Amino acid sequence: LWQLIPRPKHQPPLVWHWIPFLGSAPAYGRDPVTFFRNCREKYGNCFTFILLGKRVTVTLGTQGNDFVLGGKHSQLAAEDVYSHLTTPIFGKDVVYDCPNEKFMEQKRFVKVSLTIDKFRSYVGMIEDELRDYLNTDSAFRTYQMNDINEWGAFPVLKTFSEITILSASRTLQGREIREGLTKDYAQVYSDLDHGFTPLHWMVPGLPLPSYRKRDAAHLKMSSFYQSLIRNRREHPEREHEDDVINSLMQQKYRDGTPLLDHEIAHILIALLMAGQHTSSSSIAWTMLHIADRLDIQEALYKEQVEHFGTPDGGLRDMRYEDIRELKVLDAVVRETLRLHPPIHSIMRQAHTDIPVPATLAAPSEDVKYVVPKGDIVLASPLVSQVDPAVWDEPEKWEPLRWYDEKGVAAQANKQYNEGEKVDFGFGLVSKGTVSPYLPFGAGRHRCIGEQFAYLQISTIITALIRRMEFRIEGEFPKPDYTSMMVQPLPCQIMYRRRNFD
Ligand code: HEM
Repeated sequence: LWQLIPRPKHQPPLVWHWIPFLGSAPAYGRDPVTFFRNCREKYGNCFTFILLGKRVTVTLGTQGNDFVLGGKHSQLAAEDVYSHLTTPIFGKDVVYDCPNEKFMEQKRFVKVSLTIDKFRSYVGMIEDELRDYLNTDSAFRTYQMNDINEWGAFPVLKTFSEITILSASRTLQGREIREGLTKDYAQVYSDLDHGFTPLHWMVPGLPLPSYRKRDAAHLKMSSFYQSLIRNRREHPEREHEDDVINSLMQQKYRDGTPLLDHEIAHILIALLMAGQHTSSSSIAWTMLHIADRLDIQEALYKEQVEHFGTPDGGLRDMRYEDIRELKVLDAVVRETLRLHPPIHSIMRQAHTDIPVPATLAAPSEDVKYVVPKGDIVLASPLVSQVDPAVWDEPEKWEPLRWYDEKGVAAQANKQYNEGEKVDFGFGLVSKGTVSPYLPFGAGRHRCIGEQFAYLQISTIITALIRRMEFRIEGEFPKPDYTSMMVQPLPCQIMYRRRNFD
């Protein structure tokens, strides 16, 4: 009944709900995009809903993205929202379990090892991992039999999750960790991964087996990484690969202190986890769309033949430099990340009362909304990435929109690459936090894995499309919003081997 009591005019409208503590959790959890769109129709671009006892104020559209992603850290903090989910998984003293300035330094340390030189060597490593996987995984039996007439089928989520972890650990984590990725380690990883759910986020400490397994897995993984680091410190004379561990061991914080062993171990776990679901679900969606749209699949293969074809009818190996030149592949990846950004909600906690700019939402000319201190503030780039005011046929997966010269997206893409300002039809706005296309976030918390993810996805898609044709049978799978990242509901892709070896 308290919802019927008139509220202060400057408070954003509260979404109507029947059950007090539960609030709008079922509608938000089932399908956040539909929930946000319905709320936008009723309340405009700024409104508050109740999520299991917490007040969440949503700000939509490009201005809404800017409000959250471009907010000052003194006003909007990410660690307050995420730390009880991530700290038990990543570990102490890194990411959201340390002052934000320290985390920003840690992000800088990692960026040092995500250089173009490293990327050059990663392409071949990812290719090798994929080749080995196709030649050993039981789902690729007809591929292994060299049978170009017989169709086989592989499970989408399992396959791309495994390929992602194998290729990320080989490249980012280094040879020693990749070699340690045994069956035993896979179980540890899976236990850790099962702690990455909305339940573990909403209710941090439950006496359930998944919580205990998560904690045990963290201890095991952290000790494994730390023993590896100790071993390197004790034997500096041994030659080691030029990998992220070595690079982190040489870095120092601004005050001159080096990273401690457990911090290095926890940064490595964080990197593995941050890139795992995001990249594997992006590869899964990309492959599903390619399997569904035979015209684009054909265009992708043709692009490979034209770009890499050799006089003897073969295809030469891909190099890092080739990736940006593959227009169709580039459009396919961009379009998938537009329609299926793995992170649908980006949240912060308000540390002070924060006035909402009138350009975003205001009840009248004289009154401005104010987000009260303590609210969670939420932006959803997914909503602006499918906003009919920006995109033609926004729900359609249409890579052509990225290279049709007249298309809004192609224009924006060109300007983005040239580092210019981007005009999305809302007046001239700078690239950065004010944009309807933000699959990697923006501002202070922007993704540091974007270039790596782009390389990983592109290399895997290229390697697959060279070797096989793909189809899907039945309906295109729907998104599953009940996990932390938006992935397709369980499904299969049909494949048939091409002549390429
Ligand atoms: C942050 C998306 C892959 C590491 C983010 C954010 C987004 C995002 C939206 C912003 C989160 C926020 O503002 O709260 C993606 C997507 C990926 C991807 C779509 C793949 C397709 C990766 C990979 C890595 C990584 C491969 C590691 C190598 C990080 C880190 C942050 C981040 C460290 C910073 C978090 C912060 O500053 O609070 N990512 N990511 N991501 N991502 Fe990624």
